[in-house]
Amino acid sequence: MSRSVIDIIDLTKEEIDQLIETAEDIIADPEKYAHICAGKKLATMFFEPSTRTRMSFEAAMYELGGYVLSMTDAATSSAAKGESVSDTAKVISCYADIIAMRHPKEGAAYVAAAAASIPVINAGDGGHCHPTQTLADLLTIKREKGRLGNLTVGLCGDLKFGRTVHSLIQALSRYEDIKLVLISPDELKLPEYVYSDVIVKNKMKCTQTSDLLWALPKLDVLYMTRVQKERFFNEEDYVRLKDSYILTPEKLALAKPDTSVLHPLPRVNEISVAIDDDPRACYFKQVKYGKYMRMALILKLLTEDGTIIY
Ligand code: CP
Repeated sequence: MSRSVIDIIDLTKEEIDQLIETAEDIIADPEKYAHICAGKKLATMFFEPSTRTRMSFEAAMYELGGYVLSMTDAATSSAAKGESVSDTAKVISCYADIIAMRHPKEGAAYVAAAAASIPVINAGDGGHCHPTQTLADLLTIKREKGRLGNLTVGLCGDLKFGRTVHSLIQALSRYEDIKLVLISPDELKLPEYVYSDVIVKNKMKCTQTSDLLWALPKLDVLYMTRVQKERFFNEEDYVRLKDSYILTPEKLALAKPDTSVLHPLPRVNEISVAIDDDPRACYFKQVKYGKYMRMALILKLLTEDGTIIY
């Protein structure tokens, strides 16, 4: 069976560091990598909307010299006729060399990986996790701060449904001297399973608060998140919570001069557009870094699989 990456814990810290090294080498010398995947195919199997993740996987494969087969929408695939995730993964294994998959149900990527005969990369499964967003986040932090340890990281907004937050905390737990500040309304607090299985188990330093203004001056990194409308059971709760945090230039004035502001995007209105030109705003760089980390991951999995020699 091919090796898949469903959760960030499927990669060791050493492998993550190696992927960062490869991504930085791709940034420095893209031509060296431009034909490595010639003739190979990535299938994007997306059952849920996406702009960045799908397009960056596709751009990544093109920039490695490969091709892309794209299922952009469950409604225009045979999933709409009732085909299972498992059968879809078996079928796509007949056409492609690697799959990037997004699905609204937690655990769906595990089902696909168990059925597929090619590597599957989880591109987000419900409120569970989003490992390649975490790879993008880590490269952004590394390039902005010069390190991945000895940092105070604030995570703000929808920590309950925000799958990128769950994966990022898991990844940061492997680095030395990370202090977490979890900033959310009570209803959107980090799920208990992430808190106990990751933060408590790894003895991470962690503070929980609902007060962004209190937290801001302490942070080296502020990771803002959108309130995940699509995961709410009723509109009323979403409307009440959606504007819990809006980062404005006045609030950012409380932060350190070198605090890096990240956001996995899409943004709704939790970061004012007036912040986009602030040198501390890193979220569009983060988008670009995502493509390089996905290139590095595709290379790693196809090499391990024997599909390419690199
Ligand atoms: N960050 C992220 O996953 O964006 P998309 O939903 O646009 O892929």
